[in-house]
Amino acid sequence: MSKFYLTTAIDYVNGEPHLGHAYEKIAADVIARFKRLAGYDTFFLTGTDEHSLNVARKAHAEGMSPKEFCDKMVDAFKRAWEKLDIKYDRFIRTTDADHVATVQDIVRRANERGYIYQGTYSGWYCVSCEAFLSESQLVDGRCPLHPSKKVEWVEEKNYFFALSRFQDALLDHIEKHPEFILPETRRNEIVNRIKEGLQDVSISRSSMEWGIPLPMDPSQVVYVWFDALINYLTGAGYAAFAAKTGAQERGADANTPAGVGADTSTRLGANAGTGASAGPDAGPGGDAAGSGCFEKWWPADLHIIGKDITWFHCVIWPATLMAAGLPLPRTVFGHGFVNIGGARMSKSEGTVVDPIKLVDEYGADALRYYLMRDIQFGRDGDFTIEGLRERYNSDLANDLGNLLNRTVAMTERFLDGVVPAPGVRDARDDALVANALRVAQTARDKMEALDFSGALADIWTIVDDGNKYIDEKAPWTLARSEATRGALNTVMYNLVEALRVTAIMLSPFIPGAARKIWDQLGLDGNPEDAGWAGACEWGRTPPGTRIRRGEPIFPRLEVEARNRKEASREDKVNKTRTESGGEKKVAEDLITIDQFAQVNLRVAKVIDARKVEGAEKLLQLEVDLGTEKRQIVAGIARHYSPEELVGKEIVVVANLQPARLRGIVSQGMLLAAVSQDGDKVVVLTPDKEIEPGAKVR
Ligand code: MSP
Repeated sequence: MSKFYLTTAIDYVNGEPHLGHAYEKIAADVIARFKRLAGYDTFFLTGTDEHSLNVARKAHAEGMSPKEFCDKMVDAFKRAWEKLDIKYDRFIRTTDADHVATVQDIVRRANERGYIYQGTYSGWYCVSCEAFLSESQLVDGRCPLHPSKKVEWVEEKNYFFALSRFQDALLDHIEKHPEFILPETRRNEIVNRIKEGLQDVSISRSSMEWGIPLPMDPSQVVYVWFDALINYLTGAGYAAFAAKTGAQERGADANTPAGVGADTSTRLGANAGTGASAGPDAGPGGDAAGSGCFEKWWPADLHIIGKDITWFHCVIWPATLMAAGLPLPRTVFGHGFVNIGGARMSKSEGTVVDPIKLVDEYGADALRYYLMRDIQFGRDGDFTIEGLRERYNSDLANDLGNLLNRTVAMTERFLDGVVPAPGVRDARDDALVANALRVAQTARDKMEALDFSGALADIWTIVDDGNKYIDEKAPWTLARSEATRGALNTVMYNLVEALRVTAIMLSPFIPGAARKIWDQLGLDGNPEDAGWAGACEWGRTPPGTRIRRGEPIFPRLEVEARNRKEASREDKVNKTRTESGGEKKVAEDLITIDQFAQVNLRVAKVIDARKVEGAEKLLQLEVDLGTEKRQIVAGIARHYSPEELVGKEIVVVANLQPARLRGIVSQGMLLAAVSQDGDKVVVLTPDKEIEPGAKVR
């Protein structure tokens, strides 16, 4: 089994986790879940970056020690990731003991190999970036990324890392390994910047106490970025590895400068040992990444980071590894930003989005799906509530939710809830199967290429095709005669299978809903254990499986509260007009043409109908509105049998607020004429056939 070691950026803890942090962790979790599903032995590392000046200042302002402050903030991050279903293997903190040991060992090693020297630093520092900035990087004397904050002048005796000596080796590595920096646009930016020339960088701070003491001069602490990048080695179990191999390696190559430009892509060789003196402390997830695993996990396969920190990851980080004589990671992927109204989220503008609130309102699956579907990975994208609600209602509730509802409802009604053995297939059945199997290939390729929105679009062709297949095959008609039993069995079996393979492929994106689908289909185990291979084979659902019908997995969202408010405001306006006898005088019991136009009446075709258990008067209808399917609960069970209604065209109020009747959500109302005494109820139907969705005026 191939291994896959995946990391995210580790977040600063000076503020609560926001949607940008969440976006990155979700994307990485989707990758980790996909890799596990595809059979890779996967290790997924995330965590927090704690030794920043900002943290020290905030802690001081709140009257806490920096560590106490970090402990509090780390809880907030862990809670957020739990709510978002982020399944990491280790949550690393840069205050973890094994990380401290690792950083000190790497610094010592680079020092022994001649890449660290003492000097004086004087220049500008942006505390928000935690970065030294050259005069030419400033815009109007300020950091271009944080124009609202002042840059600080720093002048101190520091230790420097000889980054400039790695210019050729870095360019050479990037040229030989184009997959080292992705997407390509970021690679080009980095290559151009390297070609402009590399400056040595300060890797220590003398004016700070909060940090990891520099091993050769404990009066200084390691610069936060140098410290942070090394977390990727710690997470792989470096400290234990160094402790184990250090003794025998010590002396063997301690003072030999590394052959910069040597093949840095090879796996760890015998010379990769270090002179660690600190004992290992594996930390919270240490079991998985701990002692003896470093040779297995390093080098990392993929670092997922934001586009703002590519310089650190694509230049300083590989040079650090070269200086320490360690192999380089395979790929650094710099994703884009989640923006609000085209601009960065900003505290001062009040545009920082809290992912927890979104999860509380829409659920983790919906947020994960929306972000992965709407923003092409690698590019920037805008977050909007409207976009999220639209994806929820149209893709999740309407397409996916309906396909599941219709499938389990019809299995219950026509087959007593038991998945049948399929009969013979016709060309239409074959087409459904062929598309699903094709997607198992194409979506996998897209997942490997980190094209999440492309993979989801492919998977959705199965969902869309499934809904069309139901409309075309009309199982309710096939169920009427024994002669078409075989065809009904084929259709229903294929629908269950389409949902089974969809649940597997969607499980990295919407793990909660994928399990619910699996459960409602009555399948054993879970989609994760079935593996991607389970989606590549048709016919794994054993005939005889009993479905377990449950609640809708994505109940439709109500009309926006805002729209409702607007409607009631308009009502009031009309009333006032009446009372004040204005120009357009409106009598109490008459409505205006505009008021009538507010009622959206549409023709709908009844696709499916059934009695509501325990409610004598109610029928649950599934109707086709042309552009979408809806579920409507109507009080006509004493006047119509379900069979009479299926296939009929009716008239519905399409913009009625959804309501719950006997626990079932009704997404509209049908029109019926009721006799004076209320005894006779007849459903209104168009005089001639017309396409579903036609407007009634
Ligand atoms: N601590 C450093 C990373 C050290 S990694 C060795 C840091 N922290 S951060 O909290 O500022 O950012 C953490 C991650 O979140 C970064 O990859 C950053 O690009 C990402 N994002 C922060 N805001 C973002 C958006 N609005 N959108 C998407 N990702 C963004 O940088």
